[in-house]
Amino acid sequence: MTGDGPKPSPSDKFSFGLWTVGWTANDPFGPPTRPPLDPVESVHKLAELGAWGVTFHDDDLIPFGTEAAERDRLIARFKAALEETGLVVPMVTTNLFSHPVFKDGGFTSNDRGVRRFALRKVMRNIDLAAELGAQTYVFWGGREGAEYHAAKDIGAALERYREGLDFLAGYVIEKGYGLRFAVEPKPNEPRGDILLPTVGHALAFISTLEHHEMVGVNPEVGHEQMSNLNFAHAVAQALWHGKLFHIDLNGQFSAKFDQDLVFGHGNLIEAFSLVDLLETHEYAGPRHFDYKPSRTEDFDGVWASAAANMRTYLLLKERAAAFRADPEVQEALAAAKVGDLLQPTLNPGETHADLLADKSAFEDFDPDATGARGYGFVRLNQLALEHLLGAR
Ligand code: GCO
Ligand code: MN
Ligand code: MN
Repeated sequence: MTGDGPKPSPSDKFSFGLWTVGWTANDPFGPPTRPPLDPVESVHKLAELGAWGVTFHDDDLIPFGTEAAERDRLIARFKAALEETGLVVPMVTTNLFSHPVFKDGGFTSNDRGVRRFALRKVMRNIDLAAELGAQTYVFWGGREGAEYHAAKDIGAALERYREGLDFLAGYVIEKGYGLRFAVEPKPNEPRGDILLPTVGHALAFISTLEHHEMVGVNPEVGHEQMSNLNFAHAVAQALWHGKLFHIDLNGQFSAKFDQDLVFGHGNLIEAFSLVDLLETHEYAGPRHFDYKPSRTEDFDGVWASAAANMRTYLLLKERAAAFRADPEVQEALAAAKVGDLLQPTLNPGETHADLLADKSAFEDFDPDATGARGYGFVRLNQLALEHLLGAR
């Protein structure tokens, strides 16, 4: 599946979680269909395919409960693989969901002992993240939530979530680590209902944090689509707030369980809109793939699917650039007044009295004539679709 056209290179900033290519494909209905992958092999393979970075949960690299000496050995051989390949570690995260101790969450478990254990687990892994030169530390609270109303005091849980993030941000500051936090929203699964279910919820929550300036979001394509929301809009708002610290790319068809398909293998038009948005905004962060190679695939299929994520992104980037460069598109954009929205609605310094005195804004304005005029948005969208299909 190499094909002609763009080839991924480190300057594209493509990164993968060890848990993505390394997923052994167990699901609620069946055991693994693939053996575990050695993280060192994943690093080599990803580098060969043209990736730039690799990310991990503590437990992906160092199985839960590993003794200190073995932990050091695992870290050392991983570091050696990074050095050999030139792959970087842009992001690190914590597994606060697999071990049964976290069955009611980490930071928001009803059990205070679990909450304290979760903080210690994160602190230890933050030290490792800093050692490896990561810039972002992700918080995905998949087990922070509830199935039953009476089982969880949501206000108290949010208070504990905030306490946890404030405490950990303080730790990063005290240690002088150059890390920023990114909260990853998801509406459900594994918990019936997860706290901070959407980008909007996460942004509102972040604004309450003591060190809110060092906390942004890590939106995931499928997660917003699971809530039937427009992912490109969520990302656009995160960019507008200056909070797009990281992004998880994958594919999803509509509101259902988390499919984690290859990027673009779900809602393709939205994937195109997203790439167009990221590229026109010159988003400088990692393009991180958080997908799962389907359960049907062997290892050849795993690596082909990893390559497919990057190739799809690059093809969409080419298509988006061709769309923007097309004179007919530019003319359609102008006819649709898309650029006019950048112009402030009021004149510089205009007062309430000035607007009230402006007859052209109201008395002489012809709402019927303006209301009768078409915007040509469908034509514009058809042009986008034709570029996406390679027809122009
Ligand atoms: C999921 C999530 C995770 C997180 C990961 C990083 O739905 O399982 O997307 O893959 O991204 O835990 O924090
Ligand atoms: Mn996911
Ligand atoms: Mn994710």
